[in-house]
Amino acid sequence: MAKSRQVFVCRACGAEFPSWTGRCQSCREWATVSEVAETVRAVPARAEAISAAQPLASVDPDLAMPTPVGIDEVDRVLGGGLTPGSSTLLAGEPGIGKSTLTLQMASSMASAGATVVVVTGEEAPAQVAARAARLGVVPPTLFVIDDVSTEAVAAAVTELRPQLLVVDSIQTMRLTTVDSPPGSVNQVKASAAYLVAAAKAASASLLLVGHVTKEGSVAGPRLLEHMVDTVLAFDRGDPSELRFLRAVKHRYGPTSELGIFDMTADGLMAVADPSQRCLEDRRPAMPGSVVIPFLAGRRPLLAELQTLVQPVHGRAGVASVQGFDRSRVFMVAAVMATHCGYGFSSADLYVSVAGGARVTEPAGDLGLAVALASAADRLAVPADLVVCGEVGLGGELRSVPLLADRFQEAFRLGFRRALVPQSAPSGPTGLRLLKAGSLAEALSLIPPHLRATG
Ligand code: TYD
Ligand code: MG
Repeated sequence: MAKSRQVFVCRACGAEFPSWTGRCQSCREWATVSEVAETVRAVPARAEAISAAQPLASVDPDLAMPTPVGIDEVDRVLGGGLTPGSSTLLAGEPGIGKSTLTLQMASSMASAGATVVVVTGEEAPAQVAARAARLGVVPPTLFVIDDVSTEAVAAAVTELRPQLLVVDSIQTMRLTTVDSPPGSVNQVKASAAYLVAAAKAASASLLLVGHVTKEGSVAGPRLLEHMVDTVLAFDRGDPSELRFLRAVKHRYGPTSELGIFDMTADGLMAVADPSQRCLEDRRPAMPGSVVIPFLAGRRPLLAELQTLVQPVHGRAGVASVQGFDRSRVFMVAAVMATHCGYGFSSADLYVSVAGGARVTEPAGDLGLAVALASAADRLAVPADLVVCGEVGLGGELRSVPLLADRFQEAFRLGFRRALVPQSAPSGPTGLRLLKAGSLAEALSLIPPHLRATG
């Protein structure tokens, strides 16, 4: 069975190569590929017995129902809660709030009567207890394990049969049969596989915490993405206390919902009015800036799209894009060149969604086109205008989902004009709709407002 072949594995993403390479061809990280013994990798880590076949009709489908965590923002992202026996990876940079969030989830579920086990590989139990006490009551069914032995944790799961097992973090765990240090590619993979199997066998939801690390010798959570049912990414917005939680992979629910938190002295709190928070630092009358209503899952939110068009000489322009679909930036720029007389080929384009939100839907196209035109012409759009619509390759405007809900959100935040496709439904009284059939027509409808100085 045992093979002694050597393989080379990227500790950032887990890609395998037959020989050493300085840069991972899969995730493009430098100096992350190192040699790993195949014999060790091949050790199967199974904690469950192979179950015998059973009639499907006798299987209770309710066992696949998610159990609410009891924190609305988390349950929204998970599409209802954590599914028993499923495994979830929470990935994020050190200091982002993973321990805080998982402890809040653990307390919340334990408060509702669930047995919850938290493995505290990084902090002493007393530290965790102090933090838990500060965040709220500490329910009696919340247990901690101060042991980084993967086998010991799996044994505790079999014995305690918790509904939730939190492992903070997977990079501290050690399976004794694997002769590699905690945090190494081998150890992280083997320990995770062992815990996934143990949790599944005990019908416990497993929540693994994984630090995203760019440097150093610690293997990153991308290594585990294919092994778990759900991957949650936790990252920072702007202002820096804003935190975004999203599912980047989810076997049991949507991947489009967004959880928005504030890191406060009392832990992570849901942001009451995310649109208002995202627009907080907006300076109206800035050329290149346009407010767009976008959907985070089914929730309409407003974001400020900022663009800069910087002419270059003697080279082709490049695009720097943040929070927006890069391919749509090129598409919109091409449509503007073909149908509206805007040429961006000798300019650098900067596109950024202020606040750290991410717009991934085509409904942002028209807003982007207006922002680019505004930046190129150095003319600001009116401060009370929102823009929403998809742009087709023929320069036509297409309708987008849930426009009426987006109108409501824009009106609630004080916007009084909306530039939208011809087919748009009516909005609230007091929101004036500027309807256009094509991008060229849309651009002609915006009143030239303010010319930038300088
Ligand atoms: P932490 O959850 O420890 O991050 P991670 O596990 O992802 O490394 O929290 C990170 C920071 O959050 C920490 O520097 C302190 C701060 N923090 C608060 O501001 N309020 C709180 O209630 C808690 C628990 C932490
Ligand atoms: Mg932590």
